[in-house]
Amino acid sequence: MSQLLVRGGRPLDGEVTIQGAKNSVLPILAATVLTGDQVVLRGCPRLRDVDTSIRILRSLGCQAEWEGDALAVDTAALNCCAISDILMREMRSSAIFLGAILARLGQADISYPGGCELGPRPIDLHLSGLRDLGTDIREEGGVLHCTAPHLTGRELVLSLPSVGATENLMLAACGAEGTTVISNAAREPEIVDLQEFLKACGADVAGAGSSSVTIRGGRPLHGCEFRCMPDRIVAATYLCACAAAGGGVYLRNARERHLATVADALRKAGCTVTSDGGGIACRCRRRLRAARPVRTAPYPGFPTDAQAVLMAALLKSRGTTVFEENVFANRYRHVDEMTRMGADIRVAGRVAVVTGVERLSGAAVRCTDLRGGAALCVAALSADGESRIFETSHIDRGYEDIAGDLRALGADAVRVDNE
Ligand code: EPZ
Repeated sequence: MSQLLVRGGRPLDGEVTIQGAKNSVLPILAATVLTGDQVVLRGCPRLRDVDTSIRILRSLGCQAEWEGDALAVDTAALNCCAISDILMREMRSSAIFLGAILARLGQADISYPGGCELGPRPIDLHLSGLRDLGTDIREEGGVLHCTAPHLTGRELVLSLPSVGATENLMLAACGAEGTTVISNAAREPEIVDLQEFLKACGADVAGAGSSSVTIRGGRPLHGCEFRCMPDRIVAATYLCACAAAGGGVYLRNARERHLATVADALRKAGCTVTSDGGGIACRCRRRLRAARPVRTAPYPGFPTDAQAVLMAALLKSRGTTVFEENVFANRYRHVDEMTRMGADIRVAGRVAVVTGVERLSGAAVRCTDLRGGAALCVAALSADGESRIFETSHIDRGYEDIAGDLRALGADAVRVDNE
């Protein structure tokens, strides 16, 4: 079990390179199954969820080896269509393997996926889309037995723009005869990255980034080398770290076009955020103002994944900021922990009202989920004294080395691994 020790009160001053995006690399690792060939993913982040994907690939008979910061995956020898319940429960993205395995083998056995507890996270949209493409799904003893001897392309209309369902259906549609159009598709940058990966493997996919994605299926796919996009939520975390602690940071590789709503909220709160071709700079010289209401929404709206870190940055702002969480039912689990540091936050249903306080004090706090955990690190930077952050395994799902990155940015943060 490890802890993070963060001593607050020191303005930031430094640079860091933003890691590859977890939420891009996970569906791409599932997509490698489609190729039956070798794929090299450059700049692949070393994360717990990536390790889980590697274990899933190996359990299916594939090879996956690190070569420096590149992950080489060879799915030629895939010989199994079932993922164990233990691996399924490790993370939400295990479900994305379903579309890929069905497209490659015509059958798959999986159970329901795990992941951060943010409220109910069903996969009904994934399953109904796969049924519409011609998959027979039988549930028995918690296992979904899926068979699809002939996937057939057609129009699929999602009732909400689910990121995971869009990805799963894109992968299944690559193995379907004919054309699939996914309407009301998620528009997140990670969907565009998945499309670019599939195109690099020879697939005919267009429209990602808009609400309509078209896949002309049935083409043989081949391996490729690919570099996935920088992680926009890690970048948002470090922008918020600067906003919380004050000072100036430069985030190499971060792309402002992926972070427009976050940068905008920080500017309104009094930070200077600028970008050049190579990254984003942030400077914060004085106490922040409260922000306008922050309403999370599917992309291009304000990302739910950045809600907790922005909240952490505003805990000492002048005035009151209203947050409205519209994507997940239970994404304020970090609030009780922030309250231990002296934050003034009232939650009622989807709404959290943050009233800025003069000072926060370091405390012993517990990570409740990935982004909530990162937000505690951000809050600790603006607290007096030392904070001890426990249950950091949540953070390891999505940040390669949050303490190292924060140190590179000038913070006093260390990870302590207990026996
Ligand atoms: C992805 O999760 C991300 N995970 C999440 O990131 C992110 O918070 C989320 O998209 C929203 O942006 C990955 O990419 C691996 P959804 P996903 O399907 O695909 C409901 C992080 O911190 N829904 O768009 O699970 C669902 O319950 C994580 O990095 C259904 O009702 O998100 C939720 O309320 C956490 N039925 C909403 O849609 C379905 O079949 C959005 O979920 C699918 C989803």
